[in-house]
Amino acid sequence: MNETAKLAIVILAAGEGTRMRSALPKVLQPLAGRPLLSYVVATARSLTLDTLLVVYGHGGELVRDAIVDDEIVWVHQPEQLGTGHAVDLAMPGIDADATVLILYGDVPLILPATLDRLVVASQAGLAILSAELPDPSGYGRILRDGAGSVTGIVEHKDADEAQRKIREINTGLLAAPADLLNGWLGRLNRDNTQGEYYLTDVVAMAVKDGIRVKTVQPGEAKEIMGINDKIQLAEAETANRLRQAHRLMQQGATIIDPARVDIRGNVECGKDVVLDVNVVLEGDVKLGDGVKIGPNNVIRNTTIADDTEIEPNCVIEDAEIGPRCMIGPFTRIRPGTKLDERVKLGNFVEVKKSHIAAGSKVNHLSYIGDTTMGSDVNIGAGTIVCNYDGVRKHQTIIGDDVFVGSDVQLVAPVTIGRGATVGAGSTITKDVPEDDLALSRVRQVTVKNWKRPRKADVT
Ligand code: UD1
Ligand code: CA
Repeated sequence: MNETAKLAIVILAAGEGTRMRSALPKVLQPLAGRPLLSYVVATARSLTLDTLLVVYGHGGELVRDAIVDDEIVWVHQPEQLGTGHAVDLAMPGIDADATVLILYGDVPLILPATLDRLVVASQAGLAILSAELPDPSGYGRILRDGAGSVTGIVEHKDADEAQRKIREINTGLLAAPADLLNGWLGRLNRDNTQGEYYLTDVVAMAVKDGIRVKTVQPGEAKEIMGINDKIQLAEAETANRLRQAHRLMQQGATIIDPARVDIRGNVECGKDVVLDVNVVLEGDVKLGDGVKIGPNNVIRNTTIADDTEIEPNCVIEDAEIGPRCMIGPFTRIRPGTKLDERVKLGNFVEVKKSHIAAGSKVNHLSYIGDTTMGSDVNIGAGTIVCNYDGVRKHQTIIGDDVFVGSDVQLVAPVTIGRGATVGAGSTITKDVPEDDLALSRVRQVTVKNWKRPRKADVT
């Protein structure tokens, strides 16, 4: 490609999408938890481009607000008069010497490599992305002459019987030099079945002007999937799920069943990571070498260091987990949690906004919140940090080598000094100095040879 050529990308996103039957505009329907349009914007951004324009209409400000990108030039199309009209509205924002690439906001799985080829092909004139489909109905068809050169595009609704048999379809994505495109757009009319300005009519105009029309094909069939209803949305979800799983497997992850792992975000994997079934990874997730994630885990915006194992059924969010930790089964790790190396959290343990240092264990049925815990601490079963007084949250500090027995309440703010012991069943409301034992339970009473009442004795 000519290195100095400027690239302007126009994303068409004004359509209504009635078939979605949704209050949410079509381009904001979620794919793996993110709006369809955000995929197209991200793909556009991954190319070297000078201007990014998005034509919006239906959904109005909702669409603008959903996409956080200050450099987008938003072009409002109040009335959807056709794809040609939409592009025409964007042209004043584009330099005459740029190459224009047209994308659709509802075609989310298009890959940068395909777009690169489309842009390169447009250096000679007009380049369109076409594909052979087993069932081409509904799409515009590519018309070719006896020599195989493209002569135009006919929309399905305007096509005759013979034309409808053509299986090469127009994906809608195209690239052309801005000056040529400008000239053609000025000559569009609405003389067709739908009474719209068809962008596709520029193809026949190019041919008439003696400009070469090249076709480019996508690398994968799923790239050109257009999403018009909830069925196609689910199909795209499946296609995207497999694509993301394949990407992780290429990085070296072992995925037990790629159809049952959902990667919804930016996931990075080290070597020898194993993901079992029903794992959902959301947002920014980093998994170090040798990390093993068991079945049924939801992990969101979290870093997990080397050789840590997550057993089944955990929910982990906004956390930083050190190396060689053992988590789960049934552990909930909430935002702001940082675990150093070799920490063990077991079943029915909830940890929030806490730092737990190396080698400490919270194995069963505990709540740890707003806590700084030292290393090699043992927290007994059923221990609760009472961090909330109904109005404010308070801090708990637990030193290194502390041993907390079972069924203890630590009423914050409170500090347990290094090496201290807290006896089982205690409610601790005052600080415990280093190396001391604190007990707050009632002394046991034993009644000798106690006779329980029996039903037979009651008359
Ligand atoms: C278009 C193509 C057709 C192609 C098909 C692929 C034309 C005339 N036809 O048809 O050859 O096979 O896409 O899916 O281009 N949009 C706007 N403003 C408008 C109209 C559309 O922004 O005024 C946007 C839509 O939101 C959508 C895209 O442009 O993202 C395509 O519009 P759509 O109505 O789906 O085009 P089709 O009639 O399917
Ligand atoms: Ca469409």
